[in-house]
Amino acid sequence: MALVIDGKAIAAEVRNEIKIKVSERIAAGKRTPGLAILLVGDDPASQSYVGGKGKACAELGVYSVIERRPENTSEEEVLSIINEWNRTPEIDGILVQLPLPKHIDENKVILSISPDKDVDGFHPQSFGRLVIGIPGFVPCTPAGIVELLVRSQIPLKGKHVVVLGRSNIVGKPIANLLYQKNPRANAVVTICHTAAPDFRVYTRQADILIAAAGVPLLIKADDVKEGVTVIDVGINRVDDPSASKGYKIVGDVDYESVFPKAYAITPVPGGVGPMTIAMLLNNTLKSIEMSENQ
Ligand code: GUN
Repeated sequence: MALVIDGKAIAAEVRNEIKIKVSERIAAGKRTPGLAILLVGDDPASQSYVGGKGKACAELGVYSVIERRPENTSEEEVLSIINEWNRTPEIDGILVQLPLPKHIDENKVILSISPDKDVDGFHPQSFGRLVIGIPGFVPCTPAGIVELLVRSQIPLKGKHVVVLGRSNIVGKPIANLLYQKNPRANAVVTICHTAAPDFRVYTRQADILIAAAGVPLLIKADDVKEGVTVIDVGINRVDDPSASKGYKIVGDVDYESVFPKAYAITPVPGGVGPMTIAMLLNNTLKSIEMSENQ
């Protein structure tokens, strides 16, 4: 029987810890942390993520501003909103929901966010700090994965972690986090991506498999070894006429087939997903604390 890593429960634990810290700040007469979110366009998944982020802020006593703009918003306007937030003292964290419409240069937008407010951890300064191993903002999904592994007491030291996927949001940062020489990492990491002639050569060697390929149900029982820990980062919408919304969410891992072989596994939904928002709020709290300690 595999251990089911309950992301919903662990995220609730993390959110509760943040809530306590925020209320302690207020009791001590300090300012509440503030998060500003920009959503451009009407991608349904992005709308739902942004809604979830706003709701979590309200529950934890974090001040939030959400700006929604239409698909045809210019790059100039996006940069000007960010510029304004960079200069607003009540705002400790700035998040621009990705993906942005094609006519907007995502890298230019990320670079325009003040590194001191980069709670998404996507700015090159944050990424550089992560690689070097000095404190900074760690992107939320990778930070959530580490939290899941550590709180579930999955040993990492010397273990072979195979990361499937090389995105800037998940694959690259989680790989770079997990080989760091510290007690919450120290693993041996392989990054596998679409150019591999056969990804199974790599995934079958994994003590810990992090599936972030964005391909529904890609990983089957034959693709992993006995006793593997599986972290499924996939959030894929697939048609399901029997569901009320007409679709269901599945991961990159075929949970039913992999479960009997695994030592531990995250479900989808209810695994990595809930951790992302919890870690975003954690980064926002970290931001206000860092600004006070400068
Ligand atoms: N789109 C998918 N994941 C993320 C994330 O973690 N942050 C932002 N800003 N956009 C995303």
